[in-house]
Amino acid sequence: QSRRTLVVGNWKMHGSHAANEQLLEALKAAGPLPADAAVCVPFPYLAQAAERLARTAFAWGAQDCSQHEQGAYTGEVSAPMLADFGCRYVIVGHSERRALHAESDQLVADKAKAALAKGITPIVCVGETLAQREAGETEAVVKRQLSAVIHTLAHCAGEMVVAYEPVWAIGTGRTASPEQAQQVHALLRAQLAAATPRAAQMQILYGGSVKPDNAVELFAKADIDGGLIGGASLKAADFLAICRAA
Ligand code: G3H
Repeated sequence: QSRRTLVVGNWKMHGSHAANEQLLEALKAAGPLPADAAVCVPFPYLAQAAERLARTAFAWGAQDCSQHEQGAYTGEVSAPMLADFGCRYVIVGHSERRALHAESDQLVADKAKAALAKGITPIVCVGETLAQREAGETEAVVKRQLSAVIHTLAHCAGEMVVAYEPVWAIGTGRTASPEQAQQVHALLRAQLAAATPRAAQMQILYGGSVKPDNAVELFAKADIDGGLIGGASLKAADFLAICRAA
């Protein structure tokens, strides 16, 4: 397949100047990688990541951005600000934001659009909860989530990265089997193909308890183009092993 594997670490709300320093130094020392790689860090540490990761194999990015370009939005961070710090990626619509911050499908789509307007690649997360999976709603849920983004981005939908993260697999140690993940990835790619000629080149990542010992099997699937890594991205050795599983 022609798509390059992409491995993105999502640090979530973890880190400190001192802890990040160790992790970033280890990534910096890694040398060339067989995959595209990036870390999405908390906003206050973007400058640190940008400084440490410049001229390395790693890009960097953020975990959210505002849908607005600027204005009276206390506490928000805009896509132009992320661009100012050299962000290549921004995660939008992570299930934790959808669930804990009531982000709607349309809001997530608007955030993706704001990112693209500044040349930042949105990593759009979709995924079903355990209750939805058990009710047989997985396909309907992920299609609804992706559809809002496709419609809002229209002709530039091909510029995003999609991440399929079944909510029941996030931070639980319970990974979707490579077959379960592949099945959903294939659906998502078909949905993208109906909307953009770039669907075959687009990277669709899997997220949810990816570890060094399951990454190879997951990434080997036809429509799994890498991973969005939470817990394991905080340990340099594990994260690098996943990057090398490409
Ligand atoms: O964004 C990353 C995902 O939420 C996965 O987290 O690898 O800790 O399960 P996890």
